[in-house]
Formats: sequence, C-alpha cells, structure tokens
Amino acid sequence: MEAKKFIIRKNLHLTDKLYLLELEGGFNKKPLPGQFIHINIEPFFLRRPFSIAGYREDSLKVLYKIAGRATDILKIKKEGEILDIIGPLGSGFPVKNSQKNVYLVGGGTGIAPLLFLSEELLKNNLHINITFFYGAKNINEIVFNILPCGVNYIFSTDDGSYGNKGMVSKVMEGYIKRGDIPDVIYAGGPYEMLKKIAEISEKWEIPAFVSMENRMACGTGICYGCVTKIKSKKGWEYKRVCKDGPVFNSKEVLWE
Ligand SMILES: Cc1cc2nc3c(=O)[nH]c(=O)nc-3n(C[C@H](O)[C@H](O)[C@H](O)COP(=O)(O)OP(=O)(O)OC[C@H]3O[C@@H](n4cnc5c(N)ncnc54)[C@H](O)[C@@H]3O)c2cc1C
Ligand code: FES
Repeated sequence: MEAKKFIIRKNLHLTDKLYLLELEGGFNKKPLPGQFIHINIEPFFLRRPFSIAGYREDSLKVLYKIAGRATDILKIKKEGEILDIIGPLGSGFPVKNSQKNVYLVGGGTGIAPLLFLSEELLKNNLHINITFFYGAKNINEIVFNILPCGVNYIFSTDDGSYGNKGMVSKVMEGYIKRGDIPDVIYAGGPYEMLKKIAEISEKWEIPAFVSMENRMACGTGICYGCVTKIKSKKGWEYKRVCKDGPVFNSKEVLWE
C-alpha cells in the first residue's frame, strides 16, 4: 500500500452520470485487476474507494458514477489538479494461464475492474477468448467508447433500449445453456447481480470470482466497517471486503 500524488490529465464526462478520470502517476508495485484505490476528496474526512479501471506504468484510470457528495466534487476537478491516493488496496482477480474461455460479467460501474482485467488478460494471453456480458439500465448508461478492443461484447439493458432486454446474469446463463462453457467467470456489479452469478456458477460448476463493493470507511482493514459473511468451518465468519477482498470466490460468500 502506497500513498501517492496523481495529476489529473483528463476528467471526461461520458454519459449522464458517468465520468472517466485519467491520472498521471504510478505505484511502485503494479496493481492487479480487481484492486482498488482510496481517493482523498476534500473536505471529506473519509476517503472514497474506486476500482482501478486501467493502469500503465505512468497512468491510472478510474470510471466513476456521481453517487453523492464526494463524487459531485470529483466531477468538477480540472486537468492539472492533484489527487492524493492510497493504493493499490485489497485483492485482485486470480488468473491462470490455462484459462482459454473467460466470461466477464459487469453491471453499472462494476465493469470498471473488468476493463482493467480484460486488458491484462489480452496482453498476457494471445489465444484467450473473452466474452464480456455488459448490463446497464439503458443505452445512455453504456460507455461504448472506453471498451477495450479484442473482446466479444454482449450487451443487455433493463429497458431493452440496447442489446438483450433483462438481467445480464440471465443472458450469460443462456450462453452456458447453449453449450459455451467458460473456464471461469469474473464479475463486478450490484450485490444481487453477484448473487445470481454465484448461483449460476454453483449450478454449472464453473468457478466464479466476484468483486464486492461494500461501503467502506478506513479501506485498510482496521475498522471492520466493510465486512461480509464468508463461509467457514463454524458456519460463517466476517471478512473485510477492503482487506480480504474485494475479490472473493463466489462459493465462499454467504449470500443473503
Ligand atoms: C471496492 C470498491 C470499489 C468501488 N469502485 C467504484 C468504481 O470503480 N466506480 C464508482 O463509481 N464507484 C465505485 N465504488 C463506489 C464508490 O466508492 C461510491 O459510489 C462513492 O464512495 C460514493 O461517494 P459519494 O460521497 O459521492 O456518495 P455518498 O454521499 O457517500 O453516498 C451517496 C449514495 O451512494 C451510496 N454508496 C456509497 N458508497 C457505496 C458503495 N460502496 N456501494 C454502493 N453504494 C454506495 C450510498 O448508499 C448513498 O446512497 C466502489 C466501492 C468499493 C467499496
Ligand atoms: S473499511 Fe475499514 S476494515 Fe474495511
């Protein structure tokens, strides 16, 4: 974990509520897809967590949605301003070189860590086949222009304004039912979506790893404000999403 200053190079308005921050700067230790950063947004005492949506040696991307007070301030930050960032935090998605057919499933800003993951998978494995199931409320919330090339995208929207109509998890299961069995599923998005992915993963015996977004305070494992129930020998135990996650094996999570 490092505390670093990053310079804002771009703060692009993508859709109604979605923005892309392009930052100049880097960590000594290269982040893994799935890890997150904690941004200090003044005047707030608590930092705000965001997944790393892309990373090169000297630059980092964050895809963010206007959710409340801090992101409202973030959106008016200008090129050249400095952000005080702690990272990389938490765990990344476990990846094996033997994986040839990979499903990514993302809903809303849950696609952010998957953008970074798909770039890294493509870079490290030329023969990989990646299918990215991208779910959004409607066509206006899909960020077409920042999606990495070389990936097969299957879109779904709640209102049917683009791609399939309905839940992204259902669309994904349709592909599995038709015989396209992936080696692994990686997912990011709302809790209910991740829970559905976990059910499908169990039913079809396909390993799945989910990136959880519980509300956080310290972000570094001290306060236990972000816990989730993880199965254990005694039944279950609390694990910290910021330190033990945010990526968990879906079958280890006690879904409620
Ligand atoms: C590990 C992790 C990674 C994340 N990655 C991203 C990302 O890549 N892009 C992105 O836009 N957001 C991401 N989030 C959520 C982001 O941290 C919150 O949206 C942000 O902190 C809200 O700050 P705010 O002050 O604008 O809103 P607040 O005023 O604090 O809250 C406004 C509303 O947002 C809700 N909210 C706040 N935090 C969360 C949360 N963690 N999950 C769901 N709802 C929340 C509150 O319940 C409230 O309704 C991530 C969260 C975690 C824990
Ligand atoms: S936010 Fe404090 S332990 Fe996770």
